[in-house]
Amino acid sequence: MKKRILMLFVFALTLQMQAQTNTGNTEKLPRVTILATGGTIAGAGESETKAAYTAGTVPVDILLNAVPQIHELAKISGEQIAQIGSQDMSVEVWLKLAKRINRIFEEDSADAVVITHGTDTMEETGTFLDLTVMFDKPVVLVGAMRPSTAMSQDGNKNLLDAVMVAADPASQGKGVLVAMNGLVFDARDVTKTVTTSTSTFQSRNFGPIGLIYDGKVNFYYQSTRNPSQKFDVSKATSLPQVEIIYGYADASPVPVDALIKTKVKGIVYAGMGNGNFNAPVGKALERASKEGIVVCRSNRTGAGRTTLYNEVDDAALGFVVADDLNPQKARILLMLSLMETSNRTSIQNNFFKY
Ligand code: SIN
Repeated sequence: MKKRILMLFVFALTLQMQAQTNTGNTEKLPRVTILATGGTIAGAGESETKAAYTAGTVPVDILLNAVPQIHELAKISGEQIAQIGSQDMSVEVWLKLAKRINRIFEEDSADAVVITHGTDTMEETGTFLDLTVMFDKPVVLVGAMRPSTAMSQDGNKNLLDAVMVAADPASQGKGVLVAMNGLVFDARDVTKTVTTSTSTFQSRNFGPIGLIYDGKVNFYYQSTRNPSQKFDVSKATSLPQVEIIYGYADASPVPVDALIKTKVKGIVYAGMGNGNFNAPVGKALERASKEGIVVCRSNRTGAGRTTLYNEVDDAALGFVVADDLNPQKARILLMLSLMETSNRTSIQNNFFKY
């Protein structure tokens, strides 16, 4: 009996010492602000087993309380920036996010930021923030493919991983990152590749740059293409209009001509193969270029570079190429570039630098 009481006493003492150690460590933990925007990670459905759900319904405080382990990794604060499915992501929310993150780092109110986001346009938000956050502190995007109410939901683990990446000093200076499904990606390169799978995020050209496993982050690669030149959006309230046109066999020039009439500032052409077009679309894009619209050739293949002067005489037509950016990422760089210049050589340089 005495032995049992003694053991209980030692156990209680150990717990108390552990609690004290944890409290002491709390002071030293990095400060991570979580900016919530909605998406499936904040989605709720009526059944644990059915696929139907509504994105962006669970507010940030409930999201954070669902993963108590994040509080052991960082001093967490949360803010609701938006509560939308990311198919409704907009330039307005991007500007709000970029301004908020820059302010957080300027005021030194956090050491890192995690953004909870829908997966549909996460790659676009990541690219936008990569180009507009002026600090090299960690910014990590995270989402989920299954809503928080699903039996095998992936959001809680992804959120824990994202906070782990954000809190890791090795994440500094790597540009904006995406943490999904145990992998870390450079936001510049990552893309959503499958409609419903939890392993949907891939960097088709270069692969993930790190792995998250057993409570640790290990980085293996770092891009040399992260922007040396950032875009200052502190005063911006909108961006120049750039639209995307998709290439396909027997495509007509109707969409290009409609955009010329709309007086857009830029067109990204998601061409076939190496950014190719048929003759009628080529003529329409040439008309657009002559009207002062910057035409950027990207491609619909999902990987690889769109290269200058292969089958298209870009110099003669006044076109620029997207290099390895897919159409939706090229659109973002073109909008930001057009905010500063319409000089095609400078814009092309931006594509080769980023
Ligand atoms: C969304 O992008 O908001 C819906 C899909 C998702 O988050 O997985």
